[in-house]
Amino acid sequence: MKKIICVLFGGKSSEYDVSLSSAHAVLTNIDNSRYEIVRIGITRDGKWYHFDGNNEDIRTGAWCADTDSLSPVHFSPNDGMLHFLPSAKGNAPIDALRPDAVFPVLHGKFGEDGTMQGLFAVCGIPVVGCGCTSSGVCMDKAFTKSVVGAETDIPQADAVTARIADKNDMDSLRLRCEAKFGYPMFVKPCAAGSSVGVSKVKDASRFADAVEKAFAEDGKILIEKAIVGTEVEVAVFESHGSYFTARPAEIDLGSSEFYDYETKYISDASGYYLPARLTEEEEKTVQAYALEIFKALDCRVFSRVDFFHTADGFVFNEINTIPGFTPISMYPKMMMQDGTSYAQLIDKILDAVL
Ligand SMILES: Nc1ncnc2c1ncn2[C@@H]1O[C@H](COP(=O)(O)OP(=O)(O)O)[C@@H](O)[C@H]1O
Ligand SMILES: [Mg+2]
Repeated sequence: MKKIICVLFGGKSSEYDVSLSSAHAVLTNIDNSRYEIVRIGITRDGKWYHFDGNNEDIRTGAWCADTDSLSPVHFSPNDGMLHFLPSAKGNAPIDALRPDAVFPVLHGKFGEDGTMQGLFAVCGIPVVGCGCTSSGVCMDKAFTKSVVGAETDIPQADAVTARIADKNDMDSLRLRCEAKFGYPMFVKPCAAGSSVGVSKVKDASRFADAVEKAFAEDGKILIEKAIVGTEVEVAVFESHGSYFTARPAEIDLGSSEFYDYETKYISDASGYYLPARLTEEEEKTVQAYALEIFKALDCRVFSRVDFFHTADGFVFNEINTIPGFTPISMYPKMMMQDGTSYAQLIDKILDAVL
């Protein structure tokens, strides 16, 4: 019998659009002869629907306006089932079903941050990717740095963590950062992604604006010394306790000052090198770092571990526990270097939890 996989997309996160793009790629490549796919869309304001329309409408964002194809649903911790409520047309397509696994193709808050993983843990439904605690720690850049700092000797950027109350004394926050590392600095929300709310600050005049922008995304922010180097990413895959690290990728920022939202998803100016332009020894080092970090953070199934490659070696930047799966995303590209197809990659990922 085919395994029932619920693919979740959308979500109450600043990365809603990225999720739609990732989910479209997953849904159009998944092997429907092996899995029974149940598509669950979550609107920007958090309404959950079973979606029975075209995958193309997921990509464009039109899915949630297609009310004929939507039935409200909820997962219940009471019986571990997905329950269907009447659609706009009147009837629920079925009463309930029991999923074999949930694949949350969701990025950022309420998807990648442990909350979704906690919900399914309570429901007793296996979830693709990291568990609740691991996801929560990896979503919060300050917590991630603490664990990686305590468990490994891998270099990281000097940083100051600020909480919302620190906004009341912006000057003392700025002076602390100036004393610790000076300009340029990076200011970023602890729990966000896709570079939303991230700024490079070159002098004191821009500091307060950057801090406000980061706090608009999260109640906790990180202010870091700017690291000079290229950006190198490593795909890590785990299945039933065996680990694999792909050959790293290197981001070519083109003329962009940093890897901001525009550079990631919109402009054509940026590109990548695959594999990264590294010596064999450098490649081994960064792969070993990525695996050490993946294990230190108790990650499962997949994560993309990002580094800066500086003149003095690698500096860990961040980890993404639900890496992008859009057509331009690096995780699938890295994993497909050995000839694995996109459909086979999704197969491997599902097999890791089934
Ligand atoms: N300390 C830093 N030094 C240099 N560049 C940085 C630093 N922190 C972030 N950046 C730049 O900002 C981008 C986004 O920051 P990142 O921490 O990766 O957050 P996100 O989760 O939004 O991707 C990075 O890819 C990099 O280009
Ligand atoms: Mg990043």
